[in-house]
Order: sequence, then C-alpha cells, then structure tokens
Amino acid sequence: MSQDRGAVELENVTKRYGSVVAVDHLSLSIRSGEFVSLLGPSGCGKTTTLRMLAGFEQPDEGFIRISGQYVQGIPPYKRDVNTVFQHYALFPHMTVNENVAYGLRQKGVNKSDIATRVAEALDMVQMSKLADRKPRQMSGGQQQRVAVARALVNRPSVLLLDEPLGALDRKLREEMQIELKLLQSRLGITFVFVTHDQEEAMSMSDRIAIMLDGHIEQLGDPETVYEHPASAFVAGFIGRNNFWSGVATEHGARADDGTEFVASRPEEDVPNGQGALAAVRPESINLSVERPNDTNNAFQGTVAGVSHFGDVLQYVVHTADRDVLVLTPRANASRLYAGDSVWARWSADDVYLFSSRQADIVLAEADEVSDE
Ligand SMILES: Nc1ncnc2c1ncn2[C@@H]1O[C@H](COP(=O)(O)OP(=O)(O)OP(=O)(O)O)[C@@H](O)[C@H]1O
Ligand SMILES: [Mg+2]
Repeated sequence: MSQDRGAVELENVTKRYGSVVAVDHLSLSIRSGEFVSLLGPSGCGKTTTLRMLAGFEQPDEGFIRISGQYVQGIPPYKRDVNTVFQHYALFPHMTVNENVAYGLRQKGVNKSDIATRVAEALDMVQMSKLADRKPRQMSGGQQQRVAVARALVNRPSVLLLDEPLGALDRKLREEMQIELKLLQSRLGITFVFVTHDQEEAMSMSDRIAIMLDGHIEQLGDPETVYEHPASAFVAGFIGRNNFWSGVATEHGARADDGTEFVASRPEEDVPNGQGALAAVRPESINLSVERPNDTNNAFQGTVAGVSHFGDVLQYVVHTADRDVLVLTPRANASRLYAGDSVWARWSADDVYLFSSRQADIVLAEADEVSDE
C-alpha cells in the first residue's frame, strides 16, 4: 500500500442528483505526487467529483481508491485527503495560528505536537510572521495561504483544491499559481486542482482532465491537449480556435462558405462526404495583402479591427459570413489597418478536422468559454 500513497483512482464513478447526472461513468487514475487539474465549464461536474474524493458525497455507482484503499463508507476526516475551497472558510474570530490548529485540537492531538505542526505548516506557505493576525487583517492571497496551511497541517498525501484562486485578482492569482506549484513539487503531495480557467490549468498541471457533462473529454499533458485536441470541444476550450462547419473531402473539408481546407494530419474520424468541422488557431493564420498562389487553406476578407496586446497584435478579419480571429507577433506584422482587404492563410499542418457531430457542443459551449 505504501507505494500507492497519494494515488487516486476513480473507476466508472457516477453521481446523480434526481434526474441530473452530475458525474457520468468517470474513470481517472492519478499517480502519486502528480498535479492533475479538472478543467471544464460551469456545471460539468468538477466540484461533485472532488466532493466524492473528499467523502462529502457518495457515488451512486463505481469505486474510488485513495492511497490504494477503497474509501466507500469512509468519512471525510478518516481519508488521506484534505480540501481547500474557493472561499477560504477561515474562522473570522480566530487568529491564523488558531485557524490552522483547529482541526488538530478537534482530533485531540497534544499541545506540543500541535505547536510544532502548525509552525511547520505556516512555514510551508510562508505565513509564520502573520501567525497572530485575524483573517480580516490579511489580504485575500494571505488568507488563501492560511487555508492551504490548514489543509496541509493534517499531512494528507492528497490535496483537493476547488477553484482555490477564484476569489483573487489577476496579479495575485498569477503569483499564487507559481507559489502553489512550487509548494506542490517541494512536498511531493498529489494535487487534484479544480479550475474553469484553461490558462491556469495549462501553466500548473502535469496532466489536465478536460470535463464536459460529467465525463472526461480528454486527459493529457498540457502540450498534448493543446497540440492534439481529441474533440472540437477540447479544441475550443484549450487555447482559442476558429471553427468552420462544412463537409469532409478527400484532403480535408469544404466549409459552407466555400473555404477549402487541406489537412496534413490523418483523420480517421471524419468520413469523406460527411459533416465536418475544421478548426485553425488564431496564431496559425498569416495575413497579407497579396493573393496567394494556392487559395486552399486561405480566404479573403476585410480587417475589421486591430487590438494591441503587448508583443502580439490581434486582428479580427471579417468575411460575408463570419469574423475570424488572427494573432500575430508584433515583430512579424506588416502594418494592416481596419478596412484593409487581406488574404488570410495557414498551412495544412495547422488544420484540425472533427466530425460535426461535435459542432453543436462547440457552439453551445462557446458562450461559457468566453465569459470566464
Ligand atoms: N446538491 C446538488 N443538488 C442538485 N444538483 C446538484 C447538486 N450539486 C451539483 N448539482 C448539479 O450537478 C451538476 C454538476 O455540478 P458541479 O457543482 O459538480 O459543477 P462544477 O463543474 O463544479 O461547476 P462550477 O464550475 O460552476 O463550480 C450541475 O448540473 C449541478 O447543478
Ligand atoms: Mg464547482
């Protein structure tokens, strides 16, 4: 069992609330010491999955093992896990020290052990200096560090984190991302980290489980899910993508608006003549005023807008049917202005093709993805 310490396994886990299937036959195997994010839109079942690991909810079907042990019927406080919530849930009338010590006191741990362990946990999150403060005397980031210390004081081998940085402003959030990741690799604890922020998941995780409607659409390391999205939904959720619907052809797809896509990667899933969805990332598209020799993987449009984001320029290129997003490093950009007529093109390596059975999903989720 000791070599499994920190391993987490879900086998075919289902959880229903009345007629709602919150988690739908989900299987996931997390290695000891791994940082895995559960990423997905609101309502896809992230929190429910975490609450089943924590023991606050019981699966209707399937099994969960933590550190090699089946946990069915085992109450939360006896599991080898601790949870950090989005709203730190610190006791407002207690000092940092007392907040972190609380759980150990409840368990009847002796005083000197409590003192040692609390000091150790506060040291881990660099909060020793503020041990005597009350929550209202601290920033959001500091309070969140205390919440992490309070979870770590029990020395769990798995830490469950449910949108722990969701309440922080952007800058603090980015600092805490780095801090948490460093802490995780230093302690070697397994982290199961829930977020709906794809950049956060990409920057912190060893692997990401992208969830939709209670199941995992794709599980993989950040590079794989970005480079090889398993579905149109993943392609739209990880990074950004432009989508065209159309029909699969021998070499790729013909979009409804007439754009011809030639793809270099083999697509077993999309039979010739059937509904297809082509996707090209904004950063894979090049703009120029000249008409290319080959008008496959290209279309003509009008620059509708230019935005500056540091060293990247974002163009919106408008055609009769749609707007297409293009991102260009400032250094490479030739000057283009709103109203300019341009050709957009991309290489066959940058074309993703999906069966259009998934088109509905993309369109349905698009709003949620962009609202953040
Ligand atoms: N206690 C409950 N009773 C009834 N339905 C619930 C309950 N908890 C969750 N659900 C439903 O289960 C589904 C999954 O909810 P869950 O909280 O796991 O989503 P989530 O991925 O954490 O979403 P969010 O990003 O908004 O936190 C949703 O449809 C939700 O409405
Ligand atoms: Mg949630």
